[in-house]
Amino acid sequence: MTTLDIDFVRAQFPAFEQENLRGWAFFENAGGSYACGQVIDRLSRYYRETKVQPYGPYPAAKRAGEEMDSARTRLAGLLNVETDELSFGPSTSQNTYVLANAFRTSLKDGDEIIVTNQDHEANSGVWRRLASDAVTVKEWQVDPQTGSLDLADLDNLLSDRTKLVTMPHCSNIVAEINDVASVAKMAHAVGALLVVDGVSFAPHGLPDITATGADIYLFSMYKTFGPHQGAMVVRNHVRDQLENQGHYFNADYSDKRFTPAGPDHAQISAVNGLVDYYETLYAHHFGDEAGLSEKARKMNALFAAHEKALTDQLLTWLRARNDLRILGPVTADNRAATIAIQTNRPALDIATELADHKIMAGASDFYAVRLLEGLNVPTDSGVLRLSFVHYTSKAEIDQLITALDQVL
Ligand SMILES: Cc1ncc(COP(=O)(O)O)c(C=O)c1O
Repeated sequence: MTTLDIDFVRAQFPAFEQENLRGWAFFENAGGSYACGQVIDRLSRYYRETKVQPYGPYPAAKRAGEEMDSARTRLAGLLNVETDELSFGPSTSQNTYVLANAFRTSLKDGDEIIVTNQDHEANSGVWRRLASDAVTVKEWQVDPQTGSLDLADLDNLLSDRTKLVTMPHCSNIVAEINDVASVAKMAHAVGALLVVDGVSFAPHGLPDITATGADIYLFSMYKTFGPHQGAMVVRNHVRDQLENQGHYFNADYSDKRFTPAGPDHAQISAVNGLVDYYETLYAHHFGDEAGLSEKARKMNALFAAHEKALTDQLLTWLRARNDLRILGPVTADNRAATIAIQTNRPALDIATELADHKIMAGASDFYAVRLLEGLNVPTDSGVLRLSFVHYTSKAEIDQLITALDQVL
């Protein structure tokens, strides 16, 4: 069976060659990943060669526009959705903010919205603000011990008044991979739409969004080795139900309808680099011809196997200690490689001491304040988060464990 060629993978990331980063092991990937060389090259090429107003009647402008268009079409291919369904905005927080405004006018007296307390605030506060005398917002709550969301609890909250369910594909703290496809079926059965925050999931393999069943799916490309853009998939059947948020004369442009800001031309163009990266990996590992979503599916399987082995190694070591609490699943099954732990002294002190061992890790509430409250974790000290992706090596996990052993 083909396995991930980690040396080949790492050779695609200039950060691993940087003098200032040499010897440092990066464990704050859930905050933002390294960018692959293909993205960096595309970005700098755009600025050097085509930094003009795109779509104009002269060659540089035509090429700029073509690159922006191809970025959208190619990424849509990887995600198994149609080009018109994908658009880019400045960030996921900005995208949910705009979408919530788009929903506002479609809500009627008696309508209900279900949110979770497992989400990052970006997929929570904006929906909660839609509560009014007429519209009720209900909270689907995590189990206070495990942080899991139980489908039976959702079933009790759903009714024919539910118009919208929002949830994470996986949380940026507990990292359990939620059964989005089942939630989609349950939501659709009562006529509700499902909005999924995939920000913490997508870095572990760009999803087949059609297979998730989500009506709207969002993720942040600066955490998936790409430029600082939020990707937003609004399925065709939803787009026209939601009020246009762009200029009135742009309502019929699917890339402008939910993006009131002007597009960041260079960064959108650089999304091509992410697709180039997947193509490069696929050619190296498999070498045959395949459609983009098939390439993503097969590469994701290699990423998952690699990440699972490393996650298992770290969790096994953490489970053997009695001075910390692992938040979320304690085994490597059905979870992403984002491991948050509650420690018995301030998490920031530990992260600071880890830096003395050339470990880059984060300590915070990571904007999942409601989740920490739901898990009875004091929000002032936050949690230590150790997050990694497919380019992380076994040697870096060993370095982390050695450092943790001295610091904890
Ligand atoms: C799970 C999750 N959702 C949403 C966001 C917000 O993304 P953005 O920074 O693109 O607004 C983050 C950012 O950390 C996140 O981790």
